[in-house]
Amino acid sequence: PETITSGTALNARSQSAAILAGKTEQVLGYKNGILGPTFRVQRGSTVTIPFTNGLSEVTNIHWHGLLVPASMDGHPDQMVMAGQSFNYTFKIDQTASTAWYHPHPHEKTGKQVFMGLAGMFIVESPEEKALNLPSGNYELPLVIQDKRLDTNGAIMYSPTLEEVMIGYMGETITVNGANAPVQNVTTRTYRLRIVNGSNGRIYSLALSNGNSFMVIGSDGGLLAAPETVMSLLLAPGERADLLVDFSKVALNSDVFLQSNSFSGVSSQGSQSFKIMKFTVNKAETDTFKIPTLLNSLTSISAASAIKTRTFDIGVMMDMGSGGHGGSMAMKGMHTINGKVFNSNRIDESVTLNSTEIWEFDNTKGDEPHPMHLHGTFFQVISRTGGRGNILPHEKGLKDTVLAMPGEKVRIIVKFEHTGKFVFHCHNLEHEDDGMMLNFEVK
Ligand code: C2O
Ligand code: CU
Ligand code: CU
Repeated sequence: PETITSGTALNARSQSAAILAGKTEQVLGYKNGILGPTFRVQRGSTVTIPFTNGLSEVTNIHWHGLLVPASMDGHPDQMVMAGQSFNYTFKIDQTASTAWYHPHPHEKTGKQVFMGLAGMFIVESPEEKALNLPSGNYELPLVIQDKRLDTNGAIMYSPTLEEVMIGYMGETITVNGANAPVQNVTTRTYRLRIVNGSNGRIYSLALSNGNSFMVIGSDGGLLAAPETVMSLLLAPGERADLLVDFSKVALNSDVFLQSNSFSGVSSQGSQSFKIMKFTVNKAETDTFKIPTLLNSLTSISAASAIKTRTFDIGVMMDMGSGGHGGSMAMKGMHTINGKVFNSNRIDESVTLNSTEIWEFDNTKGDEPHPMHLHGTFFQVISRTGGRGNILPHEKGLKDTVLAMPGEKVRIIVKFEHTGKFVFHCHNLEHEDDGMMLNFEVK
């Protein structure tokens, strides 16, 4: 996708694009073709994005990973009607990071994202620039999504009840809207900024030659120090900032970024996918040295938390019980503390500038839930059960954290932004099914 800064208009509308080579189909997009442009803005700048809803239904834009005022956050209350416009404007006041944007209309987010409405949003800063990380041609923004296509290559979105349960998945993996892209690279280190923009699919990212790679950042910016990994589990909504050294690949050969099968949940784990191909086609001397210190991160002390809130995310509503306020009889199977989303209800009231521990308890559950908070970053302080520890890409600032079946994940948050925000599961079928609550900071 093209790279833009402030002032560029976005228009959500039907577009034509080719997901499979040679098969042009109607998709949704914000500018040209599927998805939206990649924003690249400097910390401290004020961004203005005139937005028009060219769809025939409501939509809006949520800036996932940007600390914007509540009035600009794309809460499901703040809809832009079909044919209407809204001017998003906010100051970028946070560390350099890889964020993204997508619609947030309740019960329609899954469909609109799957049909193509999403984009990447990169925040840069002088501190990060001083690290001389690979940039320009050596920095690749990659939005990874799975699509289900019909025989003509058109995207199909029509989840069955079973797919509302597990999340809607497809067998065609796309990168920036294209299936199986090929990227020529030279024999040096590249920076891969990855967004998992899928509705329900979790990827176990790895290189096909079995080489290790480095995690340098996650949702909220760079880690304190690089972490070497062989693979990385990335759930919907999460970002990974990676360094891959292609000097370890023979000249004129290929290596794939792939997703390996993984254990923990049967609805996800049985398949592996080749996501994209890197062809190492040119020798180039690389003087880049990975800095040993990337970012000064201070951990929030657990002792500073004034409160612990626990959220049971592992209980499925009995589909036969009905009567929990959903507009459709089959809605509301996914809950948080037994509740489904109600836009008018404040579920959690938080005091401005207070620090709290939030615990997502999936010990009774059998589906993975990537839990996401708007309006703040957080730190992961523990994971018990399941994978049992904090993973390399979870050592930085996060806004989305995966709780696998059997796991209890604790996060610590300092709430520094006032207003009404949502927190929800980022499996978009779960979210649309009501697995979302409001919290208000004041
Ligand atoms: Cu990326 Cu509320 O979501
Ligand atoms: Cu968000
Ligand atoms: Cu979920």
